[in-house]
Amino acid sequence: MVNYKVADENLAIQGKEALYIAESKMPVTTKVIRKRFQKEKPLDGITIAGCLHITKETGNLARTLKAGGAEVYLCGSNPLSTQDDVAAALVQEGINVFAWHGNTDEEFYWCIRQCLDAKPNILIDDGADMIVTAHQEYEDLISSGTIIACQEETTTGVKRFRAMDKQGVLKVPLFPVNDARCKNHFDNELGTGQGIVAAIYGMHVLFAGKNVVIAGYGHCSSGMALRARGLGANVIVTEVDPIKALQAKFSGYQVMPIEKALPDADIILTATGCKHVIAPTKEMFDKLKNGVILGNLGHFDIEVPTKELYEYAKEIKPIRSNVEELIFPDGKKIYLLAKGRLANLVLSEGHPAEVMDMSFGLQSLMSEFIVKNKDELKPGMIDVPIEIDDRVGFLKLQSMGVEIDKLTEEQYNYIHGFLEGT
Ligand SMILES: NC(=O)c1ccc[n+]([C@@H]2O[C@H](COP(=O)([O-])OP(=O)(O)OC[C@H]3O[C@@H](n4cnc5c(N)ncnc54)[C@H](O)[C@@H]3O)[C@@H](O)[C@H]2O)c1
Repeated sequence: MVNYKVADENLAIQGKEALYIAESKMPVTTKVIRKRFQKEKPLDGITIAGCLHITKETGNLARTLKAGGAEVYLCGSNPLSTQDDVAAALVQEGINVFAWHGNTDEEFYWCIRQCLDAKPNILIDDGADMIVTAHQEYEDLISSGTIIACQEETTTGVKRFRAMDKQGVLKVPLFPVNDARCKNHFDNELGTGQGIVAAIYGMHVLFAGKNVVIAGYGHCSSGMALRARGLGANVIVTEVDPIKALQAKFSGYQVMPIEKALPDADIILTATGCKHVIAPTKEMFDKLKNGVILGNLGHFDIEVPTKELYEYAKEIKPIRSNVEELIFPDGKKIYLLAKGRLANLVLSEGHPAEVMDMSFGLQSLMSEFIVKNKDELKPGMIDVPIEIDDRVGFLKLQSMGVEIDKLTEEQYNYIHGFLEGT
């Protein structure tokens, strides 16, 4: 029996098409790994709960885990990122789904609890909400060893778990899959950069000639800066890390504090994982240029002061899907994307399937690794084994028909030795 609550089961046909399109662009996850999983069933008897953006790519991860023998439960990791058609299609494929676009905070946590009630053995999180809830409300799943280990998909989630680990309250083995090279060099850098372009293109806004302020110069934000510059924008970067700021400066961007950047900004995009990158004050709101587009791509909607902007506005008008015009008391208008939530996922379809192939190839192989090594895993942060990271890299290259060199024995000994010098 499949357990579920989705927006509309009738959307399943459309969702199946979306899953099919993504499948063809995810050969590592859907061909190589899924085929082997189908034969070997490495996840037999295992229940996996994923708190992830319910997109066509995540749908294909779920299908691969199911092919490996797992019982799969899914809930959304953001109230606005669920693709309702995909959610409906997954139910028909035997995946237990609790997700719909536009759920309230209360419903969001209800969906998480439905997944935890299934007593999962592996949790795959995106932002840490499910695993933190397990620590707060499902202690028995942890103390009984029902939860074998967990995986985290995004930077914000990894930061929350590192904080828990430091304070000695992380009680499960936690693999920060986000930090694997095959994940953050491609998913965060390429995916977010292209995703925001797709979102803003969808609004028929020209990048060329615009002053685009990018807050942060990390994995996501540096990718966004590069894409915006490639489209002819004048890119200004704001940072708090001196080295990242130097990297931005030497890459040819203007670098300045956000307060100085605001008055001329035509488009402001944040992806820092921080809070209130634009301070929630009237003074800062007054600095915003009339007509500015404000979008956040960081995990939570507090990166830009969403709540305070809504309170300050005297009028809020939806002007197209997921774009609101906020009219300030002085008549100035600003355009807020996706209610301050991940604009690339809400206004567009999130990361292209080609990059999610690597992230979800990793999540699939890590699920198998956890089952195989369950007796050795201890609570705390554990890096994704380099062999698994490399394996996904090789499989991706292979799927693209790209060959690379292999170290000779002589070269291997040289780069791992110290005796050969001048
Ligand atoms: N939208 C998406 O699809 C998507 C994809 C991956 C990650 N994310 C999220 O995006 C955020 C960033 O992830 P990342 O991997 O790029 O992290 P990162 O750590 O690589 O980069 C963040 C950068 O922001 C800078 N920063 C922090 N606070 C700042 C502030 N107040 N002002 C200016 N700069 C500041 C940091 O110094 C760092 O260089 C996280 O919340 C992550 O979970 C979103």
